[in-house]
Amino acid sequence: MTQKKVLVTGGAGFIGGNFVQYMVDKYPNYAIHNLDLLTYAGDLTKHQSIEQQENYTFVKADIADREVIMILFEKEQFDYVVHFAAESHVDRSITEPDIFVQTNVVGTQVLLDASKKFGVQKFVHVSTDEVYGELDFDPMIFFTEQTPLAPNSPYSASKAASDFFVRAYHETYGLPVNITRCSNNYGPYHFPEKLIPLTISRVLNDQKVPVYGDGKNIRDWLHVWDHCAAIDLVLHKGVNGEVYNVGGHNERSNLEVVKTIIAALEKSEELIEYVKDRPGHDKRYAIDPTKLEQLGWKPTYTFETGIAQTIQWYLDNKEWWERILSGEYRGYFEKQYKL
Ligand code: NAD
Ligand code: DAU
Repeated sequence: MTQKKVLVTGGAGFIGGNFVQYMVDKYPNYAIHNLDLLTYAGDLTKHQSIEQQENYTFVKADIADREVIMILFEKEQFDYVVHFAAESHVDRSITEPDIFVQTNVVGTQVLLDASKKFGVQKFVHVSTDEVYGELDFDPMIFFTEQTPLAPNSPYSASKAASDFFVRAYHETYGLPVNITRCSNNYGPYHFPEKLIPLTISRVLNDQKVPVYGDGKNIRDWLHVWDHCAAIDLVLHKGVNGEVYNVGGHNERSNLEVVKTIIAALEKSEELIEYVKDRPGHDKRYAIDPTKLEQLGWKPTYTFETGIAQTIQWYLDNKEWWERILSGEYRGYFEKQYKL
């Protein structure tokens, strides 16, 4: 197989971390470079099993640091860039929008400039279905790649802005790009500030689970490994300039999700606590993945099989999420790399 040098940004985070492990295992001939700033969401302890592999390299850097990024691209001459690095939590974007613009918009534009200057063969921009805004509860209506962008939170506005820059670099400079827009992910190494890992960890600790508003908002859940396979496919087979939606038709209300987890862990629904709603809370997301399926992608998990696997993973990896909750993971980089 041809050797390729791949830059994965945000590979210490949830989806990027799963993707790095997937690529290191699947493509022994590829050199996988994981670039991450190690913000609160970046955790390298998850990569202890691959950090000695010859085809894996870690670089600590800020995607918005133009000088550092240009030097790195000049030195490494990457073939592919798969761009996950972002501020990703909607609630944080409501209280601190500035960093979302800096990382998600400015950081993406710096990477695009470097990719253009140093001849990257493919730039895959990992975006989100949230750029389309919200759907109402009509079960026959889905987000397609033609749905107009109408972001409602500072997070989704910053992602939509970055999507437009990616599109513009293709249209204006001919940069070979793809944009993927996936629905809500869940699975191993999901940071416990997001609904599913937050619920699992709190229920296991017999703590109350905060449900926003009436709990009727709907999300379309996809197991993270199915998302990784989709990105792999788009990286190798995606038609330049195209957008691909990623989702597996697994719509559930938040209340259904929380109750499923409580039942699986044999705890009481009295743990549910209804709290003040999220401002601008999108009602429903639902993806039409037909275009990606036509490229050859099919998810392997249903919500039932995926949530069972995920709950078991959190039971088996209690020390990982306890380390995250305690903040202990933050010293790992300094210890490991003797800084
Ligand atoms: P995450 O918050 O778990 O991880 C983000 C990673 O980016 C972290 O490791 C963090 O340290 C790193 N990072 C942040 N700022 C950086 C910077 N300036 N320079 C370098 N690294 C930086 O996020 P996630 O949930 O894994 O999401 C990854 C990507 O996928 C994001 O772009 C997000 O918009 C998109 N996405 C997420 C979901 C989801 O359900 N989580 C769904 C669709 C799309
Ligand atoms: O759709 C893709 C998006 O999914 C990604 O782009 C985002 O990066 C990712 O964080 C996720 O966004 P959501 O806002 O949908 O995920 P979150 O886990 O924060 O919330 C899921 C739903 O659960 C949402 O309707 C809000 C609700 N919720 C969330 C939390 C954290 C609660 O009811 N209680 C909570 O404590």
